[in-house]
Amino acid sequence: MDITFGDIQETALIPLAIKASETGRKNARIKDVKAKEIIDTLGVDVSKYDPFLSHEGVVARTLMFRNELKRLISQYPDAECINLGCGFDDKFSQVDNGKILWFDIDLPDQIEVRRKVYTDRDRCTMLPGSALDDKWTASIPKKDMTIVIMEGVLEYFQKDQVKTCLNMLCDSFEHGYLLAELHSPFLEKHGKHHDAVRHTNATFGWGTTSGKEYLNLEPRMSLVSETSYNDEMKKYSIRGKIFAIIGKNINNRLAVFKW
Ligand SMILES: C[S@@+](CC[C@H](N)C(=O)[O-])C[C@H]1O[C@@H](n2cnc3c(N)ncnc32)[C@H](O)[C@@H]1O
Repeated sequence: MDITFGDIQETALIPLAIKASETGRKNARIKDVKAKEIIDTLGVDVSKYDPFLSHEGVVARTLMFRNELKRLISQYPDAECINLGCGFDDKFSQVDNGKILWFDIDLPDQIEVRRKVYTDRDRCTMLPGSALDDKWTASIPKKDMTIVIMEGVLEYFQKDQVKTCLNMLCDSFEHGYLLAELHSPFLEKHGKHHDAVRHTNATFGWGTTSGKEYLNLEPRMSLVSETSYNDEMKKYSIRGKIFAIIGKNINNRLAVFKW
């Protein structure tokens, strides 16, 4: 299949490649059979997107986002969930409780490619839209609780774009949680050495040392928790343990915000 990706859109191949390769391993920590199927259907070469640290980071974040999302969904079983910048991710099938309403949102060209490998399901709908404007939110029914997931997306935004996105979410949805992947100023500066992203044309945007820095951009939000991926990565390998020490403040984090 002949497919061209935009610079940030191409980064969606990284978690896809890693989830597929982890699924094929003995004692796989995550199972994502759909990821392998997508790679085969699209016929893309993803071999360069699976180096050690990125592999461990994506496995860690997949587990951490899934667990946090399951916890929130058990608290709000009728919530509406929005995977903003969904790429090829299939979180809906990992967390569905039979009631939630789910929307997979990404840029129009990415949704076009996603439609080649996914169809809309009962309560799970794909929509083209940008995290930087609110046009798509008009198609989303208003619910009491909205849970927004931004995994591997805000990392590519400049500070003013992060602000636009946070303001847009609070303006569009009355109450919500945002599960966001945050990265450090170190990665912002040294992103061209990142073991997987350096194989793409994407560059990292505004990095933070704490999710509290987001609150200056959107005072309606509060920070509920913030956890380094090191906490998960160090469980699995000596290299993960060592990175948790030398890379103590530079690994990405899962931050949960509420408004
Ligand atoms: C690294 S991928 C992550 C994909 C997915 N969340 C995952 O974890 O597998 C980044 C995604 O963000 C999407 N993206 C970039 N800019 C965006 C924007 N302004 N609005 C919505 N999505 C965007 C890209 O198209 C891409 O699918």
